Amino acid sequence: MSFATQSIHGDDECNRVPDVAPPINVSTTYRFDNDNLVTAAELDPSIGVDEQLVYARESHPNAVRLEHVISKLLGAPSVVYSSGLSAYFAALIRFKPKKLFQAACYHSCVEAAEILSRIGGLKVYTLDDIDAECGPGDLIHIESPLNPYGECVDVSHYAERAHKVGAKLLLDATLAPPPLSNPWDLGADIVMHSGTKYFGGHSDLLCGIIAVKDVETARLMRNERLVLGTIPASLESFLMLRSLRTMELRVRRQAENCTALVKYLNDHKAEFGSVLKHIHHGSLQQEEFVKKQMTGGFGPLFSIILNSPDQCVKLVKNVKLFQHATSLGGVESLIEWRAMSDSHIDKKLVRLSVGVEHIDDLIDDLVSVLKRLESGDL
Ligand SMILES: Cc1ncc(COP(=O)(O)O)c(C=O)c1O
Repeated sequence: MSFATQSIHGDDECNRVPDVAPPINVSTTYRFDNDNLVTAAELDPSIGVDEQLVYARESHPNAVRLEHVISKLLGAPSVVYSSGLSAYFAALIRFKPKKLFQAACYHSCVEAAEILSRIGGLKVYTLDDIDAECGPGDLIHIESPLNPYGECVDVSHYAERAHKVGAKLLLDATLAPPPLSNPWDLGADIVMHSGTKYFGGHSDLLCGIIAVKDVETARLMRNERLVLGTIPASLESFLMLRSLRTMELRVRRQAENCTALVKYLNDHKAEFGSVLKHIHHGSLQQEEFVKKQMTGGFGPLFSIILNSPDQCVKLVKNVKLFQHATSLGGVESLIEWRAMSDSHIDKKLVRLSVGVEHIDDLIDDLVSVLKRLESGDL
């Protein structure tokens, strides 16, 4: 069944009432079946926490539905979490590598690994150390496209290198949501998403997703999530479920808008010669692997480097439609002077997350301010 249909019908088998729109279940606890009482000690350990509802930290109806749909959309057993970061922690805890090889990646993932190395002895390396240090049971973590640049990293290349030495590849695919790319075709072993971004798509919920290759690992991760206390809340799960229904429409439109905006800026770069120094986006990358990776379209996020931090400040203050805020993936376009939230980034970098507005309006909004900067009017 196609992506669009799965996103709407992937949880039909979970219907418990005749309502077409699933109800918002807020209960934190569920009545035991008094005709069939089994003590916790006697429970079959192979039964998943989602199969018999007991307490909402274990599982709840909205999370169960969510995992049904997302597992189909990602083509693999998936577990949902309260945020992208809690999903990342859960993966490191389940796969417990002794050595983690981290590419340049979202800055909080670097900080998460630092915490685990401080408390648990995890050794953290860069990708340059793979040949010398990587071995069986270790984990390579890459992010593609890379935040905040929106440029792709060669996932297949790192999957091959991981597998050659018995290690696994964790791909943070937040910036390449389905249907833009299929990480399993690229050799990923574990796929992570900040569901807060394109899955949620409306800047109104936090969620994380880990997809793995087998049902048993997903079941174990759900059991561990119970102890970590990181299941997404009921209301957030309901909102996420509603968001998934339109995911294909949103993501395709966002990707098309972004690529069109990047093309416009690139084609007219000479007109903003003293403002716009560089554009980062997958659609401008020449490497062969990029098109093979982004089979459904390039990602909906890109970055520009301006001539000075002062120009960045003036740009983000003067655009009207692009909202000056961090995060990405929502239906509304965002712009961010990235130095506001990342202390290690180039102070001349502005990140843009493209929404579903009409492309002509987005181009007008951005270009009108770039023109004023170029002419010295600002
Ligand atoms: C690439 C990437 N991974 C992970 C995260 C963390 O996700 P969350 O904010 O949902 O915890 C983010 C958040 O911006 C991100 O951009």
